[in-house]
Amino acid sequence: MVQTLQLAIVMPTLNERGNLRPLVARLDAALAGIAWEAIFVDDNSRDGTADEARAIALEDPRIRCIQRIGRRGLASAAIEGMCATAAPIVAVMDADHQHDPKLLPGMLAAIESGEYDLAYASRFAEGASTEAWGRPDRVKASGFANSIARKVTGVDLSDPMSGYFMLPTATLRCDAHRLSGVGFKILLDILATVDAPMRVKEFPLDFAARADGESKLDRTVVFEFLIGLYDKWLGRIIPTRFALFGTVGALGVAVQFAMLWLVLSVFLGERFVYGHWSSDETTFNIANTIAALIAMTFNFVLNNELTYADKRLRGVWPLCKGWAQFALTCSLGLLTNIGATAALKRMHIHDVIAVLVGIVLASVWNFALSSKFVWGK
Ligand code: GDD
Ligand code: MN
Repeated sequence: MVQTLQLAIVMPTLNERGNLRPLVARLDAALAGIAWEAIFVDDNSRDGTADEARAIALEDPRIRCIQRIGRRGLASAAIEGMCATAAPIVAVMDADHQHDPKLLPGMLAAIESGEYDLAYASRFAEGASTEAWGRPDRVKASGFANSIARKVTGVDLSDPMSGYFMLPTATLRCDAHRLSGVGFKILLDILATVDAPMRVKEFPLDFAARADGESKLDRTVVFEFLIGLYDKWLGRIIPTRFALFGTVGALGVAVQFAMLWLVLSVFLGERFVYGHWSSDETTFNIANTIAALIAMTFNFVLNNELTYADKRLRGVWPLCKGWAQFALTCSLGLLTNIGATAALKRMHIHDVIAVLVGIVLASVWNFALSSKFVWGK
């Protein structure tokens, strides 16, 4: 007799090829007697993770693979996987063996009992451990981010940043369109988005060391809480990504002015009187171009680290290529920037206002194009 599907386990993957087979074996052992399927949501990993998932699926039809082309991001991969199953209950788990599949039956029992709306594995609950993780820096950072996250969402969990949880699929589907899908904080996002207070069961987790490959989210954990904070208060008015881009852009403004001042006032000894530098037009435009170029490079680095942390370009070649693409995208923006400023200056508008208008026009253009071409895939 065919058993009705009970549970789907969604596992986002990015270069986890070597981890898949042993993981499926562990799932199989842990979930004996349960009708389950596993969905790997792979962002077109270069190591052939999707091919490996399909190879396993040929022998074991409980395994499925979603290969996303031209997209990146843990949270959005998890959401997509959760929306892709017919199973009434869905779990999200890392594919690198840091999450022990042995917790799944207990979590499933908690949800199936109807007594809980969410079950999740906590690295910081009583009885949990992070020793094997071997990353005291990350433990500290996570603890800090968690305490802030708790205050922001008002949800009292020991580990709201956990990437290992289970809930009825219908709950997720009701609210999927309201989830932001930015970054890594998928559980936090669900907690902050779902309207009704959730009855949560916590499972202490022995957070293991990663089996094969390397972590994709170093340095971003503390930053997650800032995103969560923003998302909760303003995310629905101005999208998180645009706000981040804008914030980085605002810092770029400071950099551009600082550079302009450095070149004109410090290096060339020009005076700044009544809102105007004493330099001639050409000198000013050259200085402004240098300043804008430096500000652009600064913005590229910061956007790569923060705004697109979930799609971060890594390694010398991708970074150089990304920078070149960003420069290309911004060059038209730069023309707008410099041109508008020059035009306004000719109309005897205050230099600072002229520079500002140029910057605002350019940043709208830059956001639209760079999110599509530089970090779009
Ligand atoms: N599809 C997809 N796209 N998968 C991704 C991406 C991505 O952009 N980035 C990471 N993953 C996958 C990894 O392949 C792995 O299976 C899982 O998501 C977790 O990524 P890791 O890179 O191993 O994260 P970590 O171990 O450093 O971070 C852990 O702690 C975070 C909070 O501190 C994880 O448990 C996270 O889920 C958790 O949010
Ligand atoms: Mn991991």
